[in-house]
Amino acid sequence: MTSQTQTALVTGANRGIGKEICRQLLQQGWRVVACTRNQQAGAVAIDELREDTGADAQQLILRRLDVTSATDAASLSRWLHDCGFALQALINNAGVFLESAAAGNDDPLQVEITTVLQTFNSNSLGPLRMIQALVGNMPSGGRIVNVSSGMGQLSDMGDNYLAYRMSKTALNALTVIMARRLQEQHISVNACCPGWVQTDLGGADAERTVAQGADTIVWLAAAKEALATGGFYRDRKRIDW
Ligand SMILES: NC(=O)c1ccc[n+]([C@@H]2O[C@H](COP(=O)([O-])OP(=O)(O)OC[C@H]3O[C@@H](n4cnc5c(N)ncnc54)[C@H](OP(=O)(O)O)[C@@H]3O)[C@@H](O)[C@H]2O)c1
Repeated sequence: MTSQTQTALVTGANRGIGKEICRQLLQQGWRVVACTRNQQAGAVAIDELREDTGADAQQLILRRLDVTSATDAASLSRWLHDCGFALQALINNAGVFLESAAAGNDDPLQVEITTVLQTFNSNSLGPLRMIQALVGNMPSGGRIVNVSSGMGQLSDMGDNYLAYRMSKTALNALTVIMARRLQEQHISVNACCPGWVQTDLGGADAERTVAQGADTIVWLAAAKEALATGGFYRDRKRIDW
């Protein structure tokens, strides 16, 4: 590790795409602050990542974070400041998909309002809390990547899974608003759809591996070339909102 080492923070890092984002950033030499709401699950994931990548305790750091907690986000900001870590990349990956066809709550006419509220609290307001709390830790040139979904695309909207779809549409709106708000600070904000990925959330039938799912997210966070701000990406290309 050198004073030039760049620092990224990843939410929902203990499994699925989040864990793979950590792996790819570590392989590119980044310091990674891996945030998980469950410390035990986080510790297991960190051990595996350290073994796979050779990262030491300075390069890969585990922190507790529930993205529904403003208190957690604020203490993370204080901790980053105390460590002297400037955050070059914030990756808002944590998310939930609470509706299920099997449970019958994938119908927008049936879905419980509490399910919609819980989904928004994690998927849309979680990234908002993180940006509000951590933007002060980000230098000029910093990058924020919001892990969204094609299910939130207004141009390709379906008629089911209302809570998840609306939460990702709101996340896309947050992306554009923050991209404009942070333009003068030269902090880019982009959204990314990882595609349909084999994780607990995506299921075993999904078409993509976690490595494929994480690729564009890591590219948006870590590309050496300057990238535009305020876009929605899949497979390293802009897609419609
Ligand atoms: N898989 C797909 O096909 C797909 C497609 C499009 C978009 N995405 C998006 O990609 C992101 C990652 O999904 P995934 O497929 O990797 O899902 P996953 O395997 O279910 O992992 C979700 C991660 O988010 C964490 N999380 C959920 N709520 C949280 C909270 N309140 N605070 C902190 N962490 C929380 C989970 O932690 P716990 O282990 O503690 O639950 C877990 O680490 C999500 O935003 C998802 O919407 C996925």
